[in-house]
Amino acid sequence: MSIVEKFMTMEYGPAPEDPREALAWLDRHGRRFGHFINGAWQAPAAGTYFDTADPSTGEKLATVAQGSIADIDAAVKAARAALPAWQALTPHARARYLYALARQVQKHSRWLAVLETLDNGKPIRESRDVDIPLVARHFYHHAGWAQLLQQEFPGYTACGVVGQIIPWNFPLLMLAWKIAPALATGNTVVLKPAEFTPLTALAFAHICQETGLPAGIVNIVTGDGSTGEALVKHPDVDKIAFTGSTEVGRAIRKATAQSHKKLSLELGGKSPFIIFEDADLDSAVEGLVDGIWFNQGQVCCAGSRLLMQESIADKLIGKIQDRMNTLRMGPPLDKAIDIGAIVARVQLERIQRLVDQGVAEGATCWQPSIPVPSRGLYFLPTLLSNVHPSSAVAQQEIFGPVLAAMTFRTPREAVELANNTVYGLAACVWSESINVSLHVAAQLKAGVVWVNCTNLFDAACGFGGYRESGYGREGGSEGLLEYLEPAWFKQAPPVHATPLAMDQPLEQPVDFAAPPIDRTVKLYIGGKQARPDSGYSLEVHGADGRLLGEAPLGNRKDIRNAVEAARKAEAWGKATAHNRAQVLYYVAENLSQRREEIAGRLSAVVGKKQAQAEVSLGIERIFSYAAWADKYDGAVHNPPFRNVALAMKEPIGTVGIVCPADAPLLGFLSLVMPAISTGNTAVAIPSEKYPLITGDLYQIFETSDLPGGVVNIVTGRTSELMKTLAEHDDVDAIWCFTDVAGAAAVKTLSVGNLKQVFTNEGRAIDWFDVRQGEGRWYLDHSVQVKNIWVPYGE
Ligand code: NAI
Repeated sequence: MSIVEKFMTMEYGPAPEDPREALAWLDRHGRRFGHFINGAWQAPAAGTYFDTADPSTGEKLATVAQGSIADIDAAVKAARAALPAWQALTPHARARYLYALARQVQKHSRWLAVLETLDNGKPIRESRDVDIPLVARHFYHHAGWAQLLQQEFPGYTACGVVGQIIPWNFPLLMLAWKIAPALATGNTVVLKPAEFTPLTALAFAHICQETGLPAGIVNIVTGDGSTGEALVKHPDVDKIAFTGSTEVGRAIRKATAQSHKKLSLELGGKSPFIIFEDADLDSAVEGLVDGIWFNQGQVCCAGSRLLMQESIADKLIGKIQDRMNTLRMGPPLDKAIDIGAIVARVQLERIQRLVDQGVAEGATCWQPSIPVPSRGLYFLPTLLSNVHPSSAVAQQEIFGPVLAAMTFRTPREAVELANNTVYGLAACVWSESINVSLHVAAQLKAGVVWVNCTNLFDAACGFGGYRESGYGREGGSEGLLEYLEPAWFKQAPPVHATPLAMDQPLEQPVDFAAPPIDRTVKLYIGGKQARPDSGYSLEVHGADGRLLGEAPLGNRKDIRNAVEAARKAEAWGKATAHNRAQVLYYVAENLSQRREEIAGRLSAVVGKKQAQAEVSLGIERIFSYAAWADKYDGAVHNPPFRNVALAMKEPIGTVGIVCPADAPLLGFLSLVMPAISTGNTAVAIPSEKYPLITGDLYQIFETSDLPGGVVNIVTGRTSELMKTLAEHDDVDAIWCFTDVAGAAAVKTLSVGNLKQVFTNEGRAIDWFDVRQGEGRWYLDHSVQVKNIWVPYGE
């Protein structure tokens, strides 16, 4: 065809990117790679290798090492040995290394993009224009954080040696999201890339060498799930950061439960793409193409559920089908290709299986008539309509180019449908009405909401999920917190290593009014005093053995009632921060009025001095969180697009709180107050040593305008109640500040709905020390950041 003829038809000619440089780099390594450990290439201890291939041709690209327990151990040892010197560097020196990595990525951007496309099958247009520029941006941004670390995070220190496991869909980008914040905060790293796509991680190892990054700071061990498992289980790893399937995320939560490893999980999604009748439909369709067909739909935040307002559904489906007919599927190195290859045969088969299941469950399947390459792993862009909201294709992550379409009538129905999923990673809202868009965005349970745009990412804006999409954020200042810990907490002794106040002899003489012997308290559920379902109670004794009173023996049913009451009270999270602050001040005021009486009773258990301190510091603590309530705000980010990203700090929801034994009043207030100050509702299990504090607390709450259900208190045997609370699917987070067994138990028991876990790791917290007992550390655990991206300008 002549150029003139081509011009007349406006058809694309082939525009292949040249892979020679990337292939030459593979050749220089003899197409065979060991692990990158302690700054050098090392053959695998077991001598085992596997192949990685180009999914668009099936041709083998290279052979890489299969990491064993011994390889992981060598890498962790290297990372541990490198840690002191890395941490001894000034923030500026670390910043310079990160800056050098960013520069080097940028210099090698084309080579990296080609290598990524060869290994993964994604269109070069995407790896060149999206993945690699974002990788560089991530290192630049975090070079800045390294520089500012001490000013911005005073009192925080690095976790230590970090194990990182990444998936195959954005291999180098996920590496950057993991390694940049880890290094900026002074950690050293062992990273395991996905088995289908190890090559750009190995290229990054090469870049680490080029920049002169000291040996052992970044170690790359290749291998499959068993290598990842060895990293997760290694006893000398301080933190695990994982991105991948929810199933493996759950397994990692369980595997780390008995350890003190900090954990962040970025898991799957089934993100809604909501189009209202007043949307600019052509823009929305373009957004949708990006939302579901970017990277062949192998994207954790893919807009895989299309929710259309009924009035425009037919018109929209027509527009989508027309656009699908113009998509170009073909060799990923062709610069004019929209849809490349699926990463591996197993993934292709999984997509087909789910689509077949969707059709069997009643969906209508439509695919465009576009050319499909004769070899390689390709799957046609697919539109499933008439999808029932409960069918597999509406609920399960397909991770392929498959869109499941449904309709709604009202904004309310749209929100209900959108939130009808166990996931909560991302969402798109298309409407020309800013009121509708932001009203809906605020109600969506998702870590990112794109208004009239889609798939925008930036290093300054946190990314991560609600619910079973995981916990923790990547990017932004909240992402850095995942790699930091308060320095005092890292050094805190185990709970029972220091004598607890209540284990010490009572100060004599006890000059307070003797507590009434027959004091009997009730449970506090939904703002009402409630008798326990069991009909039994527990005797509570003072430090000297005296019977102080009886507390209800709560059971599973009481916990369930309390959770239901807490759920019903969620309007608390929508109350104004000013309103929440006022209620908290009122609680402090009422505690203040009854200080002598409450301290008197408490002193029978903890001694007079501690009792008085608990009450007076308790009042202060409530004041602090009343103060924080309207100051612990979000942020507005200015990413390098014509958008603002509103980083909203939202309550997590219903939080189960297992209070520490040793400071019955102050410990309770130190955990429950931050949780409710940011809008959560709480189900608290008070100190088992002195559950009678419940009686004092509910009298205060009842007289302080605290809406019923915001705080619920169930007394009884802590370990039994904790189990029900940790397993309950309607509880969104569990906080446990008892002992090491409690911390391990809640981590294990909470895997069902992957609730967020916050514990003392069995370490002693000095509740009487304001630096340990209150502040941002608690507040940071009481919220999850939602980034709402809003475009502006023409
Ligand atoms: P996967 O979760 O098995 O793999 C992700 C990473 O975890 C890989 O590096 C893998 O080697 C490692 N891994 C596997 N088992 C492990 C274990 N027990 N302990 C530690 N590390 C382990 O995901 P896979 O099998 O590649 O894909 C299956 C499905 O998972 C996809 O169809 C998709 O639905 C979902 N997925 C979601 C991703 C996301 O970004 N949310 C990314 C990749 C997959």
